[in-house]
Amino acid sequence: MRVLVLGGDGYCGWPTALRLSARGMTVGIVDNFSRRRIDHDLDLGSLTPIATLAERLVVWEACGGAPISGHDIDLAEDYEGLAGLILSFRPDAVVHFAAQRAVPYAMMSAAAGLYTIRNNLMVTNNLLTALAETGVDAHLVHLGSIGVYGYETLGYEIPEGYLPVRQVMPDGELGPTNEVLHPFNPVSKYHLTKALDHLSLAYFSASHGVRVTDLHQGTVWGAETPETSRDPRLANRFDYDTIYGTVLNRFAVQAALGLPISIYGAGEQTRGFIHLEDVLACVESALASAPRAGERVRVVNQIAQSMRIKDLAKVFADISESEILHIPSPRSEPVENELIANNAGVRAFGVTPTLISGEAVAGLVELVRSRAGAVDTSLLYPGGGSGPDTRHLSTAPESGRTLKDPAAPAHHGNHGTVNSSLSVG
Ligand SMILES: NC(=O)c1ccc[n+]([C@@H]2O[C@H](COP(=O)([O-])OP(=O)(O)OC[C@H]3O[C@@H](n4cnc5c(N)ncnc54)[C@H](O)[C@@H]3O)[C@@H](O)[C@H]2O)c1
Repeated sequence: MRVLVLGGDGYCGWPTALRLSARGMTVGIVDNFSRRRIDHDLDLGSLTPIATLAERLVVWEACGGAPISGHDIDLAEDYEGLAGLILSFRPDAVVHFAAQRAVPYAMMSAAAGLYTIRNNLMVTNNLLTALAETGVDAHLVHLGSIGVYGYETLGYEIPEGYLPVRQVMPDGELGPTNEVLHPFNPVSKYHLTKALDHLSLAYFSASHGVRVTDLHQGTVWGAETPETSRDPRLANRFDYDTIYGTVLNRFAVQAALGLPISIYGAGEQTRGFIHLEDVLACVESALASAPRAGERVRVVNQIAQSMRIKDLAKVFADISESEILHIPSPRSEPVENELIANNAGVRAFGVTPTLISGEAVAGLVELVRSRAGAVDTSLLYPGGGSGPDTRHLSTAPESGRTLKDPAAPAHHGNHGTVNSSLSVG
C-alpha cells in the first residue's frame, strides 16, 4: 500500500509514518514545518530533541527502515504542489494529521485564530479537491477531535457520528427513524475547524465518491514507539508547555520534578484520552478496512476512556512527591462536564486500548526525569491569576510566561522534496 502522511513531522504523524513503513507500506511524508516555526516564534520546544525531518529520514534508513520520501509543501497554500504530488505518488491512502492543533494557540489572538481557521480548513479542502480533481481514488483518513461535541454534559452516550432521530409527524405519530449527523458544539476555533472539516468530508464523499474515515480523537498520550526508539535521532516530540503540552504531559513533568500538579479549577472537567500506540493501531486498522465508494463518512470515536482531570492528577500525585494545586482556569470552557462516548469503532478495529494508571504513565515520568535538566519550568503554568504557590521553586515564574503575540507563521516557500535524494516517489 502507498500512503501519504500529511503532517508527518508532528507528534502523531511521525510515529505513524514509521509504523506504516515498518509494516512494509511505501510512505511519503508531507509537512511545511509550520509547527516548528510556531515553536520558534513562541520560544517553545519539545523536551525531547527532535532532528530535522531530512535527518530523521536518513537515520530511519540507516536503522534498516525502507526509504520514506519527504515533501515540504504548505498544504493550505499550495494546491498545485499537493495535486502534483497526489498524481506522482498515486497514494492508496492519505492520513491527514496536518493541522494547527492547539486550542490555546487558536484562542491566543485574532491573528492566531484566523491562521488556525484558514490553515486547517484549506488543508482539508485542498486535499479533498485534489483527490476529486485528479481522480486518484485514495482512502482519506482524517484526524478529527472528540471535542467537536463540546464540553457540556449531554447525559447520553455520544454515538459514532450519526444520531438516530424520529420526527413527530403531522398526525402526531412518530415517523421513520433517520440517521443524521450528530450536532457539533465547538468551544474553540480549533474545534470549529474540526466541525467544519467534517462537513467538507461529507460533501466530497457524497458528491465525488471520496472514501473517508474521520477519527474523532481524544487527547493522545505516550511518547516513543519501538520505531522511534531505534535511534535517539528518531525521537518523537514531547510538548509540555501551556500552549501545546497536553494536560497529561504537563502532569507528567510536574510529577517527575516534584512540582505542584496544577489543576485548572476544581478539575471536574472530563476529557477523552487515548495512548499513542492505540492511535497507530487504529490508523493501521482504518487503512486495512477502507469504506466503499458511495459509503457515507465512517466516524470512529477514537478514545480509550474518559477521565476527570482531578482523577488524572491523582494518578500522577500517587506516584510522585507532588501535591495537587488548584489554579484559576485560563480557558473559557465549562468547569464541569461528563463525557460518555461510544468507542465501539476502536474495538471493532481490534484494538484493546491501554488505560491510564500509575503503572502505565510511569514510563513517561521516567522519560521526563531522564531529561530533567532540559525542562523549562516557566512553561508549565499559565500566566495571570494567582497561579500555583511555587515560592519554593527557584525557577518557577511568579506570574507565568509572557508570550509574544503570534502572527501567522510565515510561509517559507521552498516546496518540493525535503531532500530530493531521499525521495522514492
Ligand atoms: N495530539 C493530540 O492529543 C490530538 C488529539 C486530538 C486530535 N489530534 C489531531 O491529530 C492531528 C495531529 O496532531 P499532532 O498532535 O500530531 O500535531 P502536531 O502539531 O505535532 O503535528 C501537526 C503537523 O502538521 C504540520 N502542518 C500544519 N499545517 C500544515 C500545512 N498547512 N501544510 C503542511 N503541514 C502542516 C505541522 O508542521 C506539524 O508537523 C491534528 O489534526 C490534531 O488536530 C491530536
